[in-house]
Amino acid sequence: MKIGITYNLKDDLSPKAIIDSESYEEFDTPNTINAICDVLEKNGYETAKLGSDIDIVDKLKQEGIDFVFNIAEGHIGRNRESHIPSILEMLNIPYSGSDPLTLSLTLDKNMTKKIALQAGIPVPRYKIVQAICDLHGLESRLSYPLVTKPAWEGSSKGIYDSSKVFTKKELEISIKLLLDKYPNQPLLVEEYIEGREITVGVIGNNNPDILGLMEIVNKKTPGEDIFYSLETKRNWKELVEYKSPPDLDRVLNNHIRYRALTAFKEFGCRDIARIDFRISEKRNKLFMLEVNPLPGLSPEYADLTIMAKAQGISYEKLVLSILNHALSRYKNERGSLTHETI
Ligand SMILES: Nc1ncnc2c1ncn2[C@@H]1O[C@H](COP(=O)(O)OP(=O)(O)O)[C@@H](O)[C@H]1O
Ligand SMILES: [Mg+2]
Repeated sequence: MKIGITYNLKDDLSPKAIIDSESYEEFDTPNTINAICDVLEKNGYETAKLGSDIDIVDKLKQEGIDFVFNIAEGHIGRNRESHIPSILEMLNIPYSGSDPLTLSLTLDKNMTKKIALQAGIPVPRYKIVQAICDLHGLESRLSYPLVTKPAWEGSSKGIYDSSKVFTKKELEISIKLLLDKYPNQPLLVEEYIEGREITVGVIGNNNPDILGLMEIVNKKTPGEDIFYSLETKRNWKELVEYKSPPDLDRVLNNHIRYRALTAFKEFGCRDIARIDFRISEKRNKLFMLEVNPLPGLSPEYADLTIMAKAQGISYEKLVLSILNHALSRYKNERGSLTHETI
């Protein structure tokens, strides 16, 4: 079987350009693509590195691809993660991971909250802001500290240390900065949820399993909340400690697992996802921050990889499990993996 890998690369930019521009933050390094290819080849699959440029349809046909391992994040708009899966659906080529609808819904933090609330999953209270005048009256509905963020980003793009705000003045400064940096999308102002941060890996389909739980811990000031901002993610070696499994009592542990599985199913995730939570002791409540159906797969620093390793799951096993869940999903749907291309 020939497996194509679809992705977006950081590497055609200089390191300085990457740091100056946040737009490449979600993209992968050649190291990650090579690591995935190595795993697949070692296990008997032929591979082709396809990227995700506009010539993808030709490449898929020329290479005779049977299945796509998709980690492409896409370039433009809130549907960018769905672009490659949509093309693959149109060509009837099977691929790993969630479908276009799930990818788009979960990238849009406003839509995510609506569905989460409908499913009974608590999320931080929030308001959508498109201009400074939308801040009017906000303080009667939301309590400081607040967090500002763009509505359709990931990898902490647009979430800086200064995005946690304590006063109206700080809020206005933060919103002005985002309006300038992200002029083409709504912004969210949401209540800051104090407390511990736990990310949960979920794997599978009809009966998904918990891959693991991992706490994101403040390494510099242990005991203090982490704010996993862009600056912190970029400087994770110094600022972050990953604790997997986290020290949680049985009730809380079960509660988080249950919520993660509920979110996975409600959002229609497939094969793999990472779901992020904050535990507020003060409010005695668990809040979901977001659903990541396209979690990073860097062999060194991705949250999912670190979590898997802590459970004794090697990188090879993780990649193969994602692949195998996707392959069995198609086998169940189609009886075989053959596809008719147009
Ligand atoms: N409402 C919030 N309360 C507390 N921390 C938050 C809140 N929103 C974001 N954060 C912090 O910022 C990080 C990134 O936010 P998130 O909404 O997950 O954006 P992204 O999609 O870029 O990962 C979180 O992991 C968390 O540490
Ligand atoms: Mg996140």
